Amino acid sequence: MNVTIIGTGYVGLVTGACLADLGNNVFCLDLDEKKIAMLNRGEVPIYEPGLGELIERNVEAGRLTFSTDVEASVAHAAIQFVAVGTPPDEDGSADLKYVLAAARNIAKHTNQFTVVVDKSTVPVGTAEKVAAVLQGELAERFPDALQRPGFTVISNPEFLKEGAAVEDFTRPDRIILGADSDPMGEKGLALLRQLYVPFNRNHERTRVMDVRSAEFTKYAANAMLATRISFMNELASLAELVGADIELVRQGIGSDPRIGYSFLYAGTGYGGSCFPKDVKALIRTGEEHGRKLKILQAVEDVNADQKTSLVKKVFARYGRDLTGRTFGLWGLAFKPNTDDMRDAPSRMIIKELLLAGARILAHDPIAGSEALRVLRYDLNEWAHLLENFSLVAKPVDALSAVDGLLIATEWKVYRSPNWNAVKNAMKHPIIFDGRNLYDPETMRAEAFDYFAVGRRTAMSQA
Ligand code: UDX
Repeated sequence: MNVTIIGTGYVGLVTGACLADLGNNVFCLDLDEKKIAMLNRGEVPIYEPGLGELIERNVEAGRLTFSTDVEASVAHAAIQFVAVGTPPDEDGSADLKYVLAAARNIAKHTNQFTVVVDKSTVPVGTAEKVAAVLQGELAERFPDALQRPGFTVISNPEFLKEGAAVEDFTRPDRIILGADSDPMGEKGLALLRQLYVPFNRNHERTRVMDVRSAEFTKYAANAMLATRISFMNELASLAELVGADIELVRQGIGSDPRIGYSFLYAGTGYGGSCFPKDVKALIRTGEEHGRKLKILQAVEDVNADQKTSLVKKVFARYGRDLTGRTFGLWGLAFKPNTDDMRDAPSRMIIKELLLAGARILAHDPIAGSEALRVLRYDLNEWAHLLENFSLVAKPVDALSAVDGLLIATEWKVYRSPNWNAVKNAMKHPIIFDGRNLYDPETMRAEAFDYFAVGRRTAMSQA
């Protein structure tokens, strides 16, 4: 089938490449000429395992085309995916300007029945706004209603995880399709069902619902997952006080199938492009409707506290003035297998340490340069403090004569270090682990002062 994807960000690129790999003929449109030129040279602007090969293979096969040509891209297909960004406005609500601009472009150039598929995470009611833009533009272009091409807007939210996006797209838990129950909606739904046939071969994964419920489902999923994380982080703080071990508690409750094991890991807080933004946007939607979402507000507050919990442990150990002290930091990205620094807890950790006068030796397998870019922005008038922040090439380089090591991201490469080498490099063998990577008993045996999140360590018992 012919498909057009508007927006070559994270979701757009993965969707385009995966659909092309199934044999569809896909056009990916973006107005960013530099990005399109890069993609046409075979360079992928984001780090995502498996995506590069997928793009290369399908461009070579002639099934995947990157273009800045709006007219040709819209003319290419009856199915137009909208996968543009919805950055938070100042008040936390999702900014729809790119989504509505995409709708306008579709309406300006389409001459056939069109299914506009919202893949971007958009607040409830957005499909109706998109439909109004299409309706307005098409009415202007085709004053005679009989000549006017029909259209429908379908909500098809995406549930990709960064670092596992290709796998998540190809083996989805569910495909949510929110469609109107009128003839246009049914026609659009039939086209999308046909597109998604390969995912439903052994098992029907498609859930059809009304448009508003589909839009809501995306926010509900992310808000639920973020809630589980903040809930565990809150319990982890209490576990430290009462001398319980959150890791054992996680296993104890996760074995109940009603609870399950996933997304119960206490840590240094959630980050990334979705949870922080979507929780804020849902709170905002509540406010717009006169409803204070108390649980989600607490989820957000707990997460904000959690992002500084490691630094609080450093302060408790060394006091608030860290002048003359150096700390190692392992991990910058908001999670492993990505270079994404959006809302990464490491940003807050670095800022607080630098403001307290510390020097930092930081390691990340791939997010270093992106980290420098965002830190300049975060530090703003204190950007000169970046003199005290050095990126190092190997994990062990971040340990040279440091007063302690902080861990913000659970990259695999940090999992089994040579403890002797670590101890020999550090001035003080102290680890502040924000991702609970190590067994407290082993750390005790290796004679480290080990501070983890909600774990029963020698330090929390002291
Ligand atoms: C998330 C959703 O999982 C995905 O379905 C949606 O489409 C987009 O948002 P992503 O942001 O890529 O995906 O990352 P995810 O793996 O979900 O992790 C998000 C954050 O939560 C990370 O900072 C991670 O470290 C943190 N996390 C996750 C925890 O702190 N504890 C956990 O148990 C799980």
